[in-house]
Amino acid sequence: DESTSLGVWRYAAALPFEEGVSLPEGDTPLYEVPRLEGDLGVRNLRIKHEGMNPTGSFKDRGMTVGVRVARELGVDRLACASTGNTSAALAAYGGRAGLETLVLLPSGKVAAGKVAQAALHGARILEVDANFDSCLDIVQNLAARGEAYLLNSLNPFRLEGQKTIGFEILERFYAETGRFPDRIVLPVGNAGNTAALYKAFRELVESGALAPGDVPKLTGVQAEGAAPMVEAVENDADEVRRWEAVETIATAIRIGNPVNAPKALPGIRETGGTAVAVSDDEITDAQRALAAEGVGVEPASAASVAGLRRLREDGVVDAGEDVVCLTTGHLLKDPDAAALAGRDPEPVANDTDAVLAHLDGRSGS
Ligand code: F0G
Repeated sequence: DESTSLGVWRYAAALPFEEGVSLPEGDTPLYEVPRLEGDLGVRNLRIKHEGMNPTGSFKDRGMTVGVRVARELGVDRLACASTGNTSAALAAYGGRAGLETLVLLPSGKVAAGKVAQAALHGARILEVDANFDSCLDIVQNLAARGEAYLLNSLNPFRLEGQKTIGFEILERFYAETGRFPDRIVLPVGNAGNTAALYKAFRELVESGALAPGDVPKLTGVQAEGAAPMVEAVENDADEVRRWEAVETIATAIRIGNPVNAPKALPGIRETGGTAVAVSDDEITDAQRALAAEGVGVEPASAASVAGLRRLREDGVVDAGEDVVCLTTGHLLKDPDAAALAGRDPEPVANDTDAVLAHLDGRSGS
């Protein structure tokens, strides 16, 4: 494939292949957000914006590896359950590889941009009258019966690609500050990224590239209406209880059964991290604060910043910390949520004087 020494594939030494089905993905920006940094009162705050990937989310990093593996295996049909972003990425990367793609979506609970992507990239879309977790149950059954190759984050090759988020953060943060971040705060759904980052750090420590004391504290954030991981961390439980009823504006993380919890919980504990739940209002406020500094993210992504704010207020994160918040998907993924959080357009007459009068009357609003 073309462009395979870029982005994710710069880290081929840590991946199962030298190249993949690439668009290319990775090399996402690590933004400074000085106003938010001052407001939250941490030492250095950076935003790792995974919404800047080819299909607008971090899923592309996993798919470039996972679809390569599928092609290697010679499978006929790729499938996933999805709250939206995985389906968009699977459709795009499956299409690029010339493979048939099937996606199961929770009916009425997937943001418009994501459905549009899956449809246009040519996935067959099945809408199920159930939550994401039930969709994933079905896809796992299809895979077990040999009907499809599963490309949810239960697929370990997906997580190999997503390790590169960790590599990029450490490399860039160190280049800019001469330190590694004390903490990485990220939204949690299936806890795939949490597991992937933990594996990345373990490999770096094993290879001697990172001192054990320099491993960032993995800090997971969920929405209050879908917080089984937070419950497990708070109760110091070994297993995560599946929530049957879930709800949040952050539909990407509207998940009650985080399937990667067995790999992710040890990561949160052993790095000295934690998990915290935030309200939909806190998520929307954080989405606005990021957008005000030019960083456009979808609600699930803003959960990371909302979680950091909550942990600062609770005194869990102190003012001396260097923190990276992971924003996982682009603002345009969920235009309806953006419209709700943003300013309303103001209708005006087709006349310059009327426009000026309107601006005078509404100035400062
Ligand atoms: N943020 C966004 C924007 C997501 O789309 C997802 C997961 C997550 C966070 C959670 O990541 O599962 O690694 O903890 N979206 C999946 C999907 C479930 O189908 O697109 P995780």
